[in-house]
Parts: sequence; C-alpha cells; structure tokens
Amino acid sequence: MRYLVLSDVHANLFALQAVLEHAQGRYDQIWFLGDVVGYGPHPNECIELLADLPGLGVAGNHDWAVLGKLELDYFNPVAAHVLEWTRGVLTSVHIRFLESLGEKIIPREHFTLVHGSPRHPIWEYVLNKVDAMFVLDYLTTRYCFLGHTHTPVIFQAASKPGMTCREIPLFGDSSTRTLTQESLLINPGSVGQPRDGDPRASYMILDDEQYTLEHFRVEYPIERTQKAMLDLDFPMPLIYRLSLGR
Ligand SMILES: [Fe+2]
Repeated sequence: MRYLVLSDVHANLFALQAVLEHAQGRYDQIWFLGDVVGYGPHPNECIELLADLPGLGVAGNHDWAVLGKLELDYFNPVAAHVLEWTRGVLTSVHIRFLESLGEKIIPREHFTLVHGSPRHPIWEYVLNKVDAMFVLDYLTTRYCFLGHTHTPVIFQAASKPGMTCREIPLFGDSSTRTLTQESLLINPGSVGQPRDGDPRASYMILDDEQYTLEHFRVEYPIERTQKAMLDLDFPMPLIYRLSLGR
C-alpha cells in the first residue's frame, strides 16, 4: 500500500489541490497529521476535499481550538484572529469531521500518527534532536509520522546506547529513502504554511511494502491564497509569510 502523508494544510485550498494533483496515481490512501484549519481562508473547502479521500487522520491544535477543546489564549493574536473567524464559518458537517479525528492513531503495525509528538499528541513540538530524544521513549511503534513544526525532517533514534539521535533534513528532492531498523520520527512538512524557508507545499509518499519514503515540494499559486486572505482582512503577517515560507 502507498500512503500520501500530509500535514498542516491550514485551510490553504490551492496548496492542497496542487499536492493532490501532483500525487495523483501514486498513492492508495491518505494519512493526514492534523491542522486542516487555521491561518488560511478555505477551511470548509479543505475539509470537504480531505473527507472525500480514502484514509484517516489525527487532530492538530488548530483543529482542537476551533472545536473549543483548546482556549484561544494559547495562540498568538494573529492565529487566534483566524481561529475565531473559522469558528464562525465552519459548517456543522465539517465540524463533525474535525470531531471525528483522533489524537493518536496506529493505523497498522510499526506506524503511529500524531500531530505533535508521541508524548503529547496535540501540542508538543519536536523541533530538534534533543526534543526527539525525549519523545522517542514514548513511541510504542518503530516509526512515527508527525507534523506541527511545518518543517520536513527525519529524526533517527541512536543505533547504540550512549549515542545521540540523527537529524536528517529533507529538501524535496524526490529521492527514495529506505526506512531504517532504528526508530524514526518523520515530519512531511506543511502543505499550507511551510516554515523552512521554502514556500512550496510539502508532502511525502510512503510505500509500506518496500519500506520506502519519498519527499516532494510542489509549487502552487500562493498569490491566489493571499488574495483570498486579503479579501477577508486577515492579518498581514500571515499573508506575507506564505511568500517567504517562514
Ligand atoms: Fe500547524
């Protein structure tokens, strides 16, 4: 089976469409790692697209905030502004979709899906090797896909006691990597709001028979998303950052 692994769509419809088009014919199911809403102008449209596709997903902190499971005080003012707006425009059907998302899923042997980390699935960031070392102890499968940081990366557990784990940055070069015997924390990056300096949408394809992983970056019409945000009077920093990938 081949899985399209994607995270942090953040209501960016044009980015999601570009990814689905780019990945067409190369996957059987979707594994979604949370934050379909927040920051972006098209929450209903993005949920509708995702809900129609085969696969499963987990909830992110922005999804929980829209559902009222997290206080908006936990978010910075620009994020909170759009979450408030999102609460007002989401249809009841789409709210039910968000409610159906789990916190942590083990969809098949060896793989865990979370938004943040295996220790705190909704909120915890795994930003570096030190974070990775701490949360690897909470992993009950060999591999874990996670999102939340909007940065594509693989953290590989130490192969021997006393050694540190490895951080393997990813650049969307489409090269095929084979999964190692060591535990891995794998972040496919963000579809709708990349923060690694590359504004293109980011995603992965996992082949769980070959145990291979491919990472891709895809151009999308950023200015169309920005125009929709401008029309809704969204905060300017959110609009600018899409061009920068920061
Ligand atoms: Fe996010």
